[in-house]
Amino acid sequence: MTRGRFITLEGGEGAGKTTALAIVREELERRGRRVRTTREPGGTPAAEKIRALLLDPDTGALDPMTELLLMFAARRENVTDAILPALEGGDDVICDRFTEASHAYQGGGRGLGTAPVDALSELVHPGLEPDLVLVLDVPVDVGLARIRARGDAPDRFESDRSEFLERVRAAYLERAANHPDRFVVIDATRSPDEVADAVRAALRRALDRWS
Ligand code: TMP
Repeated sequence: MTRGRFITLEGGEGAGKTTALAIVREELERRGRRVRTTREPGGTPAAEKIRALLLDPDTGALDPMTELLLMFAARRENVTDAILPALEGGDDVICDRFTEASHAYQGGGRGLGTAPVDALSELVHPGLEPDLVLVLDVPVDVGLARIRARGDAPDRFESDRSEFLERVRAAYLERAANHPDRFVVIDATRSPDEVADAVRAALRRALDRWS
């Protein structure tokens, strides 16, 4: 059985990951591939409970390492219960955020740096890296304005200071520059059709490389 491909979507708040995920799914299914989608933190009943705690503004400030450990606790559930079984069964997995979000938010945003994130990655998902990381990139103020326009109440991360979100964005862009083999950064300030075309083109290039 050929192992499926692992594709993750990343980006700041209000960058349009959900729309991009639907496009990736549609393109893979159009090619006859079996696809499983999930998200982090979350993806299993227990991990969704950890998500609720992490995103609830009433949780208040957490020690950054506690926040990171909760992200990885949720991740372990999702990896063992959902992601690995699907990949090993030959399905492609599309995950709305994965470990790169820990590098960006806890490593960059909260200032923990790369070492604890790398150490926990090795412990929690040894040998599992995404085959493709699509980063939907928008300036922080553009993303926040989109969230406000949606009218949803901001979660614990969206309501953090914009300097925090600037560090998150910078960390994503730095990780992408250092790992050009896996990352594609998509300028998500463009029109929805242009962003969709860029997502399709990045996926097509990856599929060509893998075949
Ligand atoms: P979202 O998936 O709806 O964007 O919300 C998840 C939030 O959790 C988002 O603000 C980013 C944050 N997050 C982290 O801080 N670290 C992580 O490792 C992950 C997966 C998400």
